This record gives sequence, structure tokens and C-alpha cells, in this order.
Amino acid sequence: MGVFGYCIFVVLSLIVNESVLCNAGVTSSFVRKVEKTIDMPLDSDVFRVPPGYNAPQQVHITQGDHEGKAVIVSWVTMDEPGSSTVVYWSEKSKLKNKANGKVTNHKFYNYTSGYIHHCTIKHLKFDTKYYYKIGIGHVARTFWFVTPPEVGPDVAYTFGLIGDLGQSFDSNKTLTHYELNPIKGQAVLFVGDISYADRYPNHDNNRWDTWGRFAERSTAYQPWIWTAGNHEIDFAPEIGETKPFKPYTHRYHVPYKASNSTSPLWYSIKRASAYIIVLSSYSAFVRLFFSNFR
Ligand SMILES: *[C@@H]1O[C@H](CO)[C@@H](O)[C@H](O)[C@H]1NC(C)=O
Ligand SMILES: *[C@@H]1O[C@H](CO)[C@@H](O)[C@H](O)[C@H]1NC(C)=O
Ligand SMILES: *[C@@H]1O[C@H](CO)[C@@H](O)[C@H](O)[C@H]1NC(C)=O
Repeated sequence: MGVFGYCIFVVLSLIVNESVLCNAGVTSSFVRKVEKTIDMPLDSDVFRVPPGYNAPQQVHITQGDHEGKAVIVSWVTMDEPGSSTVVYWSEKSKLKNKANGKVTNHKFYNYTSGYIHHCTIKHLKFDTKYYYKIGIGHVARTFWFVTPPEVGPDVAYTFGLIGDLGQSFDSNKTLTHYELNPIKGQAVLFVGDISYADRYPNHDNNRWDTWGRFAERSTAYQPWIWTAGNHEIDFAPEIGETKPFKPYTHRYHVPYKASNSTSPLWYSIKRASAYIIVLSSYSAFVRLFFSNFR
């Protein structure tokens, strides 16, 4: 958290305005405890690596265009680049399609990431369940998602709103509460502060990997709409890391070009009846800002 306020404001104010029209009521009496939260240890069940050589892990999806007919599928392979192809098919037609993505990686101080794949699948039908398969041979993994209904003023749709998640025991409780809520969220508006890897010595980027594996149980099946928070900046000149947002922008791709934006840190999408404007307040300030507020 900390100076996280501004980036979430636009999203929140839209929701506050919306609440005049749609009020889902209070859906849970859960209140998070006030005591300091403890990070889940590296050998926790939620961080388990999927079995098999080069098996895809840290799978996550997000909207891939402006209106909801495309999806960006992202995942990491640890041993070698492998394939960036996604095989996908609609529940209705079963006809298999293929899309080819790209692979990237990054370094951070003395850490080198795995192979990070991003593949956009396009021209999907609205309101349709699709299965998708990534990876090769016996380590291939299959997931599914449902595309949103066509954009329109009165289209019903349920967003979850999560921010500052991290990877503590409480993070796991938060995610579980979201999953168990009787009103099922169809997409998450994530308002920033993802892994909190920056709290570890040298911003230990292995904690970006553990976070990706922890959240996969949700992020592989429904789009999380990403906003960068201050914990995504990862600006650490003391260890030679002077390019802000390096791990975040390598790992979490967003469809900023579809809204003619020039930066992944701000963009807009339409989804069902919502017009979502994503802004990061940590973008244009660079030096002065960081030296004053870190
Ligand atoms: C990176 O450096 C830290 C200390 O500076 C050390 O504890 C860690 O083992 C190093 N990691 C690698 C992958 O070299
Ligand atoms: C995280 O929550 C899930 C239930 O949603 C549970 O199965 C798992 O054991 C929990 N893990 C930890 C480390 O708390
Ligand atoms: C982006 O620019 C193109 C070309 O000018 C235009 O057709 C399109 O409508 C713009 N997209 C948005 C979301 O404004």
C-alpha cells in the first residue's frame, strides 16, 4: 500500500457511480484481522510447481482488445522457451484453432526470469466458453474462460475488485473469499500492488514467480484487469535497476494499443456494460517522484 491511492481512484469512482444503478448488497461479513500479516513460506501448497519438464506455470489471462472479443494468455516456462502457441476451441464447435505468441524474459539484479509467454487470441464470440491448451506433449495444460457478453448499456456483468493482494496467509484468505462468494465474479479489476516482491532483499523476483503460481487458480480462468501500483515500480538504483516497472511490464501484458494508448500503464477497455479506465499515477514522474516518495 503506502502511496497507492491515486491509481485505484478512477476505478473506484466509476464503481461508486455505478452503485446508484446496481447494488449487490453486502455479500460477506468477512473482516480481515488487524494483526501484521505473514507471508506464506516458499514450500506452501499454493506455490507448488506443476509437475513435468518445462510445464507451463503462472498462467493468467486478461482482456486482449477494446471490446472483449480477444484474450491475452500469459504463462511462464522455466527450463527452456518451449512453445508460445495456444490451442483453443469453443465449447460449441470443438474445432481447434491455434494462435502464436511471443516469448520474452528479463533480468533483475542477479535474478533471471523464466521464459514468459504472451499470446493474444482474437475474433472470439461473445458470451461463449472456450477451452485453451498451452505447453507441449504430456506437460500440456488445459484451462477455460468465458468471453463477456457484447458491450451494451444494460448488460449484466459481475466484477470482483481486489488490490494489494501480496502472498501472505491473508492473501490466500482474500482469494478464497472471492472464489467462495455466492455471487460469482466474472472478471477481476485489480487495482494494483500484486506480488510485493519489492519487500524482499534485492526485490527477490522469485516472489513474482510464486505469486503467479498462487493466483493461477483464478487468473487462468477469468481475466484480471491489471493496474500498476507502487509495488510494481521496482526502481532500485542501489542494485543497478533503474528502469521502472520492469518485472511488471514483462509479466503482465495489457491491451493498451487497442485504446490507442502509448503505454501499458494507462489504457481503457469496454466489457459488457462497463467502460474501464486504467490509470497508474506512478508513470510520468520518474526521478524526482521516486527520490521523494520511496
Ligand atoms: C543474489 O544475491 C544475493 C545476495 O546479494 C544472494 O543471497 C543470492 O543467492 C543471489 N542469487 C543468485 C541467483 O545468484
Ligand atoms: C490456501 O487456501 C486454500 C483454500 O482456498 C487451501 O486449500 C490452501 O491450503 C491454503 N494454503 C495456505 C498456505 O494457506
Ligand atoms: C484508435 O485509433 C483508430 C485509428 O485512428 C480508430 O479507428 C479507433 O477507433 C481508435 N480506438 C479507440 C478505442 O479510440
